[in-house]
Amino acid sequence: MAAAAAAAIKFLNLATLIFSVLLLTSASDTLNSGGNITDGETLVSAGGLFTLGFFSPSPAGVPTKRYLGIWFTASAPPEAVCWVANREAPLNSTSGVLVMDSARSLLLLDGSGQTAWSSSKTNTTAPATVAQLLESGNLVVLRDKTSGGGGSVLWQSFDHPSNTLIAGMRFGRNPRTGEERSLTSWRAPDDPAPGDCRVALDTRGLPHAVGWRGGAKLYSSGPWNGRWFSGFPEMASYPGIYSIEVAVRPDEVAFVFTALAGAPFARLLLTDEGAIQQQTWRGPAGRGWNIWDASPRDVCDAYGKCGAFGLCDAVTASTLFCGCVHGFSPASPSEWSMRETSGGCRRDVPLDCGKTNGTPTTTDGFRVVRGVKLPDTDNATVDMTATLEQCRARCLANCSCVAYAAADIRVGGDGSGCVMWVGDIVDVRYVDKGQDLYVRLAKSELSDLKHWLTRVI
Ligand SMILES: *[C@@H]1O[C@H](CO)[C@@H](O)[C@H](O)[C@H]1NC(C)=O
Ligand SMILES: *[C@@H]1O[C@H](CO)[C@@H](O)[C@H](O)[C@H]1NC(C)=O
Ligand SMILES: *[C@@H]1O[C@H](CO)[C@@H](O)[C@H](O)[C@H]1NC(C)=O
Ligand SMILES: *[C@@H]1O[C@H](CO)[C@@H](O)[C@H](O)[C@H]1NC(C)=O
Ligand SMILES: *[C@@H]1O[C@H](CO)[C@@H](O)[C@H](O)[C@H]1NC(C)=O
Repeated sequence: MAAAAAAAIKFLNLATLIFSVLLLTSASDTLNSGGNITDGETLVSAGGLFTLGFFSPSPAGVPTKRYLGIWFTASAPPEAVCWVANREAPLNSTSGVLVMDSARSLLLLDGSGQTAWSSSKTNTTAPATVAQLLESGNLVVLRDKTSGGGGSVLWQSFDHPSNTLIAGMRFGRNPRTGEERSLTSWRAPDDPAPGDCRVALDTRGLPHAVGWRGGAKLYSSGPWNGRWFSGFPEMASYPGIYSIEVAVRPDEVAFVFTALAGAPFARLLLTDEGAIQQQTWRGPAGRGWNIWDASPRDVCDAYGKCGAFGLCDAVTASTLFCGCVHGFSPASPSEWSMRETSGGCRRDVPLDCGKTNGTPTTTDGFRVVRGVKLPDTDNATVDMTATLEQCRARCLANCSCVAYAAADIRVGGDGSGCVMWVGDIVDVRYVDKGQDLYVRLAKSELSDLKHWLTRVI
């Protein structure tokens, strides 16, 4: 009797197992034209890494607000959500449905059949389309291969980032059209609606990522130097795990990272407070995330902390972290003593540069500031083909040029290419693996003697 019951239980367990396996394997990565997914159903990428479905962002899972999203399968929504479709238009019940409609676009309908969200690109003359969740986490709308469409991509979720960047996504902008792929924070941990904070790639001068809260710059990554962002040398420690690059073409400037074989799943997350964190998944045993890097990481990452010609040093708490570049002094010593350093520094000795009979004449020279994050390049001029020597000569010949540096450090040595700054230089700090910045000074400021004397007397 007992044996029979045990056998029955075993059979039931086996049946449950088979049933679950069937359920798992029946989850498809593709939504065909005319098909739909209701709340509770999912699309799962071919290798199982990503899931698309409906979720509620409140941890308690109260189904008052429902969102369509893509999450990293090994973790659980809302914590591992990489992308959200209807950020601004939550559904108020579990009767939502995602439809691959005959007008060749994805439609998210609420219980009453109203459209809460749609993948905008529609082309009624295109052949039948399918939606597919790729193993990269990218949801694509494709021309159906079988109907002669060639499988070309009509729309993809990677073009519309939420607050998360994952491997293969292109973060940047098209300088021709101004079209941008940036990250926008969630309004709150339980509200995916766009918040105040944003991080975007600025393509003026050299590419640099800038974190914003509203209209205020919170921090900048520093200019791209060919291998990493000047203020973010941590990126140089990824080789063998992730590779990073900034692609520069006439119609696209984009940062992209690629995970190499065996790398843990990684994401760059813009937090609700506007910080950017690089997180890696600890794996099935560890669960949860390791935070590898974060920006801003210290007081010196606050944008323009020490003002024009200021130089921030994160280890000099006794001097309020701020100093001035050699040859400059606080513009307002009283403000600096009150810890208001954003007013910056002014030049001690005026430059001597002018024109005699149309020929530029100057007695100025340059002093190197070693080991720094290069200044903001918003108003800088870049020439990737010049050598550092040519750069020096050009800067010297132009009375409005106040500093120069190599634009690309890949060749080693002194680097190559040329960045020239006019007006002020801001957002300079000491940083590990920092670069050389050449600052224009009057002749009398070039020798150490004067500074040695003033310090001794
Ligand atoms: C979803 O698909 C089912 C059949 O699989 C169909 O009965 C239903 O009408 C569809 N719903 C929508 C909103 O298209
Ligand atoms: C849910 O939304 C629909 C339309 O989107 C609206 O008609 C309905 O009143 C809402 N229900 C609740 C409970 O808010
Ligand atoms: C729509 O699709 C057709 C057929 O593929 C193509 O020839 C046409 O250029 C497309 N139109 C737009 C606006 O994308
Ligand atoms: C660039 O120039 C504009 C206009 O003069 C100025 O408002 C802005 O502060 C400058 N940016 C930097 C980083 O110097
Ligand atoms: C000096 O440099 C600035 C910025 O690169 C540029 O706009 C200006 O035309 C240059 N002046 C001369 C005389 O070359």
